Amino acid sequence: MTALVFHSDFDDADAWEAALKAQLPELDFRRGGDPTGVVAALVWKPPAGFFAPYRDLKLVINLGAGVDSLVRREDLPALPLSRLNDTGMVQLMASYVTHAVTHYARDFHLMERNRLKRGWEYIHPRALSSHRVSVMGLGELGGAAAAALAGMGYDVTGWARSAKNIPGVRCLWGADGFAQALRDADTMVLMLPLTPDTTGVIDAAALSSMKPGANLINVGRSGLVVAEALIAALRDGRIAEATLDVFDEEPLPASHPFWGMENVRITPHIASITVPEGAAPDVAESIRRVLRGEAPLHQVDPARGY
Ligand code: GLV
Repeated sequence: MTALVFHSDFDDADAWEAALKAQLPELDFRRGGDPTGVVAALVWKPPAGFFAPYRDLKLVINLGAGVDSLVRREDLPALPLSRLNDTGMVQLMASYVTHAVTHYARDFHLMERNRLKRGWEYIHPRALSSHRVSVMGLGELGGAAAAALAGMGYDVTGWARSAKNIPGVRCLWGADGFAQALRDADTMVLMLPLTPDTTGVIDAAALSSMKPGANLINVGRSGLVVAEALIAALRDGRIAEATLDVFDEEPLPASHPFWGMENVRITPHIASITVPEGAAPDVAESIRRVLRGEAPLHQVDPARGY
């Protein structure tokens, strides 16, 4: 019998068990207990030392898209590591990003503030094609979000470390491309993986190279941005508005300055989550492959970090 261990403080273990058993009826789905015979670990931020008792492990699957919290652990076993990637997750992310961009491009943030003071102010809508969006990071989630924005009519630039081709999206790469994507954006969307190369890339210099009054949306990782620099830029209006879904400390402490800033929208890390029914077929297939001695689906290179 194939055994899997599950650990997450956020995901629904019952839903995962049902979804995985529909794919692998013989699966022994464990939430801890006897480590013997456990060949796969399906985990989101397991506690330190979690992996040590699992001597039969052949595969670690990150219960999410970003593997940064796993790859920087000292106790990560040297085994194939994969991440989740499913249509449900891609759609949730695209819905969040298109909503957040549209909030600013259609001036809903201004109308929300007017609403609070019973103010009726006609704000003439502008063509979406006049709003320039830069999507930083064109992986599975970023690429789909950029395509969705382009499909809605926004003027979309995408940046990735290497050249990409996404219909309707001006794809840039490399250091020059990064600078141009920053410079051009009315709204910038951060969808990069957090790696040593991307940590703190959005610092004071990067923010001041953006158009005065640009907006920033961060659905990647908080470590991409130097928080003090963002707070300063939001206070002096160089960055007009921010929508943030990811934070250094989650839950975001009640004393954090972001809570008190009218121009910051905060969501509790919900931009995208994995829908078990959608992801289970790939998880099951990865387990089958690893048991046959093959590579799993959606394998991550721990050294590269994505
Ligand atoms: C969530 O942040 C994820 O990486 O899936």
